[in-house]
Amino acid sequence: MLVIKGLTKYFAKNTPHEVLAINNFNLRVKKGDFITIIGSNGAGKSTLLNLIAGALQPDQGEIRLDGKIITYQPEYQRARWIGRVFQNPLLGTAPYMSIEENLALSLKRERRGLRLGLNKYLREYFRSKLSELELGLEKDLAKKVGLLSGGQRQAMTMMMATMFKPKILLLDEHTAALDPESSKKILKITEELVEERKGDLITLMVTHNMKQALELGNRTVMMDRGCNIFDIQGEERKKIDINYLLKQFSKLRKQEYIEDRMVLG
Ligand SMILES: Nc1ncnc2c1ncn2[C@@H]1O[C@H](COP(=O)(O)OP(=O)(O)O)[C@@H](O)[C@H]1O
Ligand SMILES: [Mg+2]
Repeated sequence: MLVIKGLTKYFAKNTPHEVLAINNFNLRVKKGDFITIIGSNGAGKSTLLNLIAGALQPDQGEIRLDGKIITYQPEYQRARWIGRVFQNPLLGTAPYMSIEENLALSLKRERRGLRLGLNKYLREYFRSKLSELELGLEKDLAKKVGLLSGGQRQAMTMMMATMFKPKILLLDEHTAALDPESSKKILKITEELVEERKGDLITLMVTHNMKQALELGNRTVMMDRGCNIFDIQGEERKKIDINYLLKQFSKLRKQEYIEDRMVLG
């Protein structure tokens, strides 16, 4: 269980540029939950993920995982049980290293201190995992990752973010920079990797695509100005569509317009 209570984060506090990015944010997430997070540009979605990952520290509030307070635990410690994938496909992998070297590195997170030589068993394991991606990556494990397409790199990053069996998977618009076909493929891989860990993983996926937000996962949270303004799951969620979401958004925001970034597609 991930419990976020009263989380508050300012940027440039006590300056003329002060921004309240996360405003008394509350959320309880069960193991197995796959939450899609929507909200207009600047709503605080990335900041929330950064606070959970430990890349940022809050001004107030608390984050608990399985009862343990982790609010100020350093990022490198959380990296052992948090997998992350960002929007930019160039961020998650090392371009000058081969496919197999990148994969071996990600496993080291789990088995810290353990020497992981690239033996034939490990290569076989990588080949079988890569073949599940159906991108042909298993055919040349020695290929430098910098030579792969954005979609292929993002697929590898997804695999690396889940292979060490994290407790939490954080996805921040991880398909937004890809062409439509690669984006579709990465979403499929996302569903499959999450499914493999069924019931055992917490997934938070930020997307600005409302259709995606309702199709994937079991729960949707809408953020606005740093707050959790709408949270829907289960049967109730199955009944709603994009129009309903848009209406909720303008109602809860008490404003009529919707920003361009809330893509309907
Ligand atoms: N490093 C930073 N320094 C100053 N302001 C920031 C920083 N990161 C984010 N912000 C501000 O915090 C607010 C929330 O940003 P962000 O979490 O990136 O929103 P989202 O991901 O929902 O688009 C925005 O007003 C943004 O300008
Ligand atoms: Mg963002």
